[in-house]
This record gives sequence, C-alpha cells and structure tokens, in this order.
Amino acid sequence: MIRNVTGEGESNAGIIIRPASSGDAQRMWEIDQICFDPAIAYPIDFIYYHLLVLRDPAFCAWDGETMTGFVLTSLEKRREGCVVTLDLLEPYRRRGLGSRLIVMAERALAARGAQKIVLQAAVENQSAIAFYEKQGYVRGRLLKSYYGKNKDAWRYEKRVI
Ligand SMILES: CC(C)(COP(=O)(O)OP(=O)(O)OC[C@H]1O[C@@H](n2cnc3c(N)ncnc32)[C@H](O)[C@@H]1OP(=O)(O)O)[C@@H](O)C(=O)NCCC(=O)NCCS
Repeated sequence: MIRNVTGEGESNAGIIIRPASSGDAQRMWEIDQICFDPAIAYPIDFIYYHLLVLRDPAFCAWDGETMTGFVLTSLEKRREGCVVTLDLLEPYRRRGLGSRLIVMAERALAARGAQKIVLQAAVENQSAIAFYEKQGYVRGRLLKSYYGKNKDAWRYEKRVI
C-alpha cells in the first residue's frame, strides 16, 4: 500500500534512495507489475538474477517503509551499461525522483567502467521518452516488435564519460 503523502504535498521530504538488495526484489517486481502490462513486465526471477547473480547496480526510492520506485541496471558489455527499467509509482512521478535514480544509476555504471549507457523505450511511452531525452539520451534506431508483436521500441544511448 502506498503511504499517504497528502501532508507532504509534492515534497520529497523523507524520501530516501538507497542501493537495492535481493530482499527488495519482491517489491521491485510488484512495482514493475503495476507500472507495466504484466505481459511485458519482468519476471521476478529476472530481477533476482540481476541483483543476486550479476550484482548489477540498482537503487530503490523509499517513502518511510514503503518502496515507491526503483532503477535496475545491467553491465552487459564491458564498457556499455544498460538501464533495464526505471519505475515510479504514479503518485511519486514528476517530483524529480526518476532524475535522482537515473543519475545514481549512471554514476554506478560509470564507476564499473561503462562509457555509454543504452536503454529501450516503447514508442508509445511518451512520458519515458520525454524523461530520457531530458536526461540527455539520444534516440537511435527503431527496434521493431521489441516488446512483442507490433510493439516497437526506440533505442536510446548516452555517453557518460
Ligand atoms: C519515466 C519516469 C521514470 C519518469 O520519472 P519521474 O520521477 O516522473 O521524472 P522526473 O520528475 O525526474 O522528470 C524529469 C523531467 O523529465 C520530463 N518528464 C518526466 N515525465 C514526463 C511526462 N509525463 N511528460 C513530459 N515530460 C516528462 C520533464 O522534462 C521532467 O522535468 P519537469 O518535471 O521539470 O518538467 C516515470 O514517469 C515512470 O516511472 N513511468 C512509468 C514507468 C516507465 O515508463 N518507465 C520507463 C521505462 S522505459
């Protein structure tokens, strides 16, 4: 359940971002299921695999005891990081939290040797496209049916060093 933030207005007071651990995977999966059509949301094993096996950088935003969003990354190639997903529950959007999460993710990937970061965004996900372009990501090629039949995505990338 999302903690009531009415008394805080649009403030981010009390919202803390910290590195994810495997104990956070269940809630990360739940948030991803809420943010995306379950048909394209990630399976929980995928999240565990990134956190436990690959030990990829990931960060979670917490409003008190409640996780309200997260970013999950991957270092798939030696010098190329990837934003696997970045999800915030609706009441926590447009408050700068996505920006804070992606900056932390970019720094963590760069610290592991990434020189550029790539990601994919569904062509109809206008919020994500506006967000990533604001963060300096440059649109690349169209990935046909990336999210399933006729569900195309744009590839984006950004140099971080
Ligand atoms: C995309 C997402 C992570 C953005 O996070 P956020 O915390 O809302 O973004 P921020 O508040 O840091 O926004 C930074 C800037 O990005 C742009 N932006 C973000 N959301 C936008 C929207 N819905 N429409 C237009 N511009 C937007 C704006 O320029 C914004 O600056 P402003 O608020 O001063 O105008 C969030 O909308 C989300 O979780 N969406 C659902 C999941 C999703 O689609 N994730 C992307 C996976 S590919």
